[in-house]
Amino acid sequence: MEYPKGNRLAGRIMRLKKFFGIFLSLIMVFPFAACDVFKEGGKTSVLWVSQTMETVSDGDETQITFVASDNKFGGYAESGVSGMSDEDTFLSVDLKATAEIPVKVEFVYGSVGDQTVVYSQINIGTEYENYAFRTGNVLSNKSLNKIRLFPSYNAAGGYGILYVKNLTYNDYYLNKFFEVKTVASQDAGENSGNGSGQGDQSGNQGGSGEQQPVVPVTATYLYEKYSQYFKIGMCAGDSDYRNYGDIDGHYNSFTCENEMKLYTIGNNEGQYDYSKADNMLRYMINRGKKIRGHALIWYNGAPQWLTGCRDKQQLLNKIDTYCYNVVKHFKDSFGDSVYCWDVVNEAINDGNGTYRDCFYGVAGIDFIKTAFRAARRADPNAKLFYNDYNMDDRTKRNAVINMLRELINDGVPIDGVGMQAHYAIQGGGVNYETSINNVESAINAFENLAEETGHPLEIHITELDIRNHGNNNAALAQKYKELFEVFRRHSNSITCVTTWGICDAYSWLDNSQGYSGKAYPFLFDEGHNKKAAFDAVFNF
Ligand code: XIL
Repeated sequence: MEYPKGNRLAGRIMRLKKFFGIFLSLIMVFPFAACDVFKEGGKTSVLWVSQTMETVSDGDETQITFVASDNKFGGYAESGVSGMSDEDTFLSVDLKATAEIPVKVEFVYGSVGDQTVVYSQINIGTEYENYAFRTGNVLSNKSLNKIRLFPSYNAAGGYGILYVKNLTYNDYYLNKFFEVKTVASQDAGENSGNGSGQGDQSGNQGGSGEQQPVVPVTATYLYEKYSQYFKIGMCAGDSDYRNYGDIDGHYNSFTCENEMKLYTIGNNEGQYDYSKADNMLRYMINRGKKIRGHALIWYNGAPQWLTGCRDKQQLLNKIDTYCYNVVKHFKDSFGDSVYCWDVVNEAINDGNGTYRDCFYGVAGIDFIKTAFRAARRADPNAKLFYNDYNMDDRTKRNAVINMLRELINDGVPIDGVGMQAHYAIQGGGVNYETSINNVESAINAFENLAEETGHPLEIHITELDIRNHGNNNAALAQKYKELFEVFRRHSNSITCVTTWGICDAYSWLDNSQGYSGKAYPFLFDEGHNKKAAFDAVFNF
């Protein structure tokens, strides 16, 4: 909407009113996300203003136009924060820009005269992505009081728009929106300081004649380090998901180990038990994570009302109803936070690569098509995946590729393929080792299929763990290093890498599948300490 030049303030107020109107209606649509705001009495306000930046709030979105040139910061937007605890606290915001640009995020701890500034750099894409920053527990003796966003002067032409929405902060117990203050832009040449007179100028952002430092990169968390590559995911179950508050900040994607499966939600036909999943999702979304939905149709553990059905049309109807209702539930409850689904899991046999008999024996490949179509009807935004293991085995992989080709050619809504990635290194009774070359061959093969069909396919590494019964830290680190080198090389197609667990305190591999003892498969040890494998993945 355009406002007369002489009446910009009125225009801003109008925009703000409009923003609040839509904001309030959003709260009604998503009561879960917002009701705590009012219970807690948290302030709500989102307004970004800068001397050199034009700011428009439109609906739930704020658009910050920035102008920048070499050696200058065109400006920044600042939010004052109050009432944040020192405990595990997260700032969550959805960002995109008109071009892919780096944005410096600055966290100012302490008050005037006693400030410490912690930097982080993220790379913003042209599609909305959620960025969650752990802000508590960084400096225990000072609390956070400002957050600033600096669009980079590296933007093409020095001009662009940064889009902001869903700016929230959450901690363990609270879910409050925070108040956003406005500040002046900062010009490195003149250093105009805080010309708006609101809030105080802090640390190395203030003072006169001071040259703005080049954006330092200090990623603290794994997901930050990988923000320009892919999401970093973890998995946990109902009994342990609250145990990892000290380390789960490294992850921005979460998978429920068993709680979104058919055998948890749909044991009885027509009755849906979402209780565990809903609690886990609420907790993890509050901690800044997006959710991988796993898994709708899986032969393993599937209840009798489905596996026992011998009539093709009846079976397809049951699959359709189940998939639609489950995806719809999560869509209605959590919006786009469930950003993808493993729609069908493990349809292909090991060895000869034939279809598993379950479901296929009665309905053929239609059981897969029906599941994907139902999921897409229920949530047009979620990315839909086929998920399987042993993709590094050529025979099995080729069978999966043939299946995917048939789905694509038939127009079935499928967006990606999940490689489970249950890998191993030798030692401690394990006498085989995953070949990195074979893993890369699988990735290449899926990329080639996308090219051949002209149908884009995302690859998710969905359940990465490395069986390591010898607890050989050095060998594990080496394997993780090589794997992540491959993953980074293919970050055009790989959009998420998830480990099937988080630390060695618990893994489904412990004492399983014929191996005794613990498997030590992760980046963190039993006491949640970083292992050499963490460093191998983090330092590159
Ligand atoms: C496993 C869980 O980790 C176990 O707790 C459960 O008993 C069985 O399932 N492939 C998958 C995952 O797609 O869902 C499986 O998870 C591991 C293999």
